[in-house]
Amino acid sequence: MSHISQAPVERITIPVLQRWKGEGRRVAMTTAYDAVTACIADPIVDIILVGDSVGNVCLGFDNTLPVSMAMMNHHLEAVSRTRPRALLVADMPFLSFHLGPEETIRNAGGFLQRGADAVKLEGGAKRTEIVRALVDCDIPVMGHLGLTPQSVNVMGGFKVQGRNADDALRLLDDAHRLQEAGCFALVLEGIPAELAARATETLTIPTIGIGAGPSCSGQVLVFHDVLGLTASHRPKFVRTYVEGFQLLQEALSRWAADVRNGAFPTSQECYRLPEGLSDAIASWAPSNPT
Ligand code: KIV
Repeated sequence: MSHISQAPVERITIPVLQRWKGEGRRVAMTTAYDAVTACIADPIVDIILVGDSVGNVCLGFDNTLPVSMAMMNHHLEAVSRTRPRALLVADMPFLSFHLGPEETIRNAGGFLQRGADAVKLEGGAKRTEIVRALVDCDIPVMGHLGLTPQSVNVMGGFKVQGRNADDALRLLDDAHRLQEAGCFALVLEGIPAELAARATETLTIPTIGIGAGPSCSGQVLVFHDVLGLTASHRPKFVRTYVEGFQLLQEALSRWAADVRNGAFPTSQECYRLPEGLSDAIASWAPSNPT
């Protein structure tokens, strides 16, 4: 019996997510950065995010700040070639939406031209103008509040946000301003569960939590964290369902051992010459170099 929990086959769109919020149906979202991860994730989840976390998860950076539009486009194109049925969201990297509406619209529009259904960008009230500009161009926007990794230098590290009254109230206010500006959903990252619950019950748009407790409309985790593919420290909100890193290393080392002891490949894993050609090959000798 298969234990695969598959998502419905219907294509997930923004109106579908809106409907699910009304029905109290929870949304599962994960990241994908290439065609392989997209094909694994697509039958299972509702939203695929080509996150700028590609920077620290796959590209060896310490944080997301060095991730460029060129890098994001490269990874988005790989994911979008798999034509996912999940809603495909592309993350606006640092400095791609800070330099004015024209450049922001060109960058976000380029994501849509490469197959994304929507874009995600980090930040609160100060982003409402740019969100409006994008929505005016029919570019759907997912907001992202709380522990926003692109603000690591302002936050003084990757720290839980919204833990004092001012910050908590500001976050609620920001969430409503982003909704008003036209965001179709919000990621809430690294905030107290009670605060995420209050945002979720007062907003009409879905909230997708990561380290934000169980009351959000859905949850997102990085693909490599769920599958144990990251060797680095995992924060406490991450639940790992398989120690993939270790499992894959064990499998690879069995193959390498078979190579070294001659057990790979067997005759079933070889191509053969047609009848008669073996003799011709055996009687061939290299000509003497002149
Ligand atoms: O880049 C990313 O992976 C994200 C999610 C963790 C929400 O922004």
